[in-house]
Amino acid sequence: MAADRGLPLVLVLNGPNLARLGSREPEIYGSATLADVAAACAAIGAELGLRTEVRQTDDEAELVAWVHEAADRRLAVALNPAAFTHYSYALRDALAMRTAPLVEVHLSNPAARESFRHTSVVAGVADGTVAGFGLHSYELALRAIAGLLASG
Ligand code: DQA
Repeated sequence: MAADRGLPLVLVLNGPNLARLGSREPEIYGSATLADVAAACAAIGAELGLRTEVRQTDDEAELVAWVHEAADRRLAVALNPAAFTHYSYALRDALAMRTAPLVEVHLSNPAARESFRHTSVVAGVADGTVAGFGLHSYELALRAIAGLLASG
């Protein structure tokens, strides 16, 4: 909508295998699809006065390029890095160049799962992490970003 153009844009970036939400291990990740994530982000964004753009890739290089784009455009990011969370130093280094708020998001609670998921190489360069609340994690992340943007 043209009237929304002046609102801050938040990139909601999603890493590998998250296009398969809905059918991917629903006992862990729930039944919501990535389209449901996008719809929920649009709805909460409208409430918070934010525009959201939801993207997903299985490709580390593409995700790094989107993080560079966010830094160049001074855009806030809600990021579910998926498995890259646990080992991608390239992603972490890209995020360290950020110029706006960054919140790490997880549907599940990695701390309560396999030990390889207990390390996040992203957490140390994020403003904070929301994990374990399913689709609601994205809503909480957007609320946190709205607060960070408001506090300048
Ligand atoms: C995830 C948790 C990661 O450990 C996992 O590799 C994912 C999804 C989550 O949203 O719970 O792909 O980021």
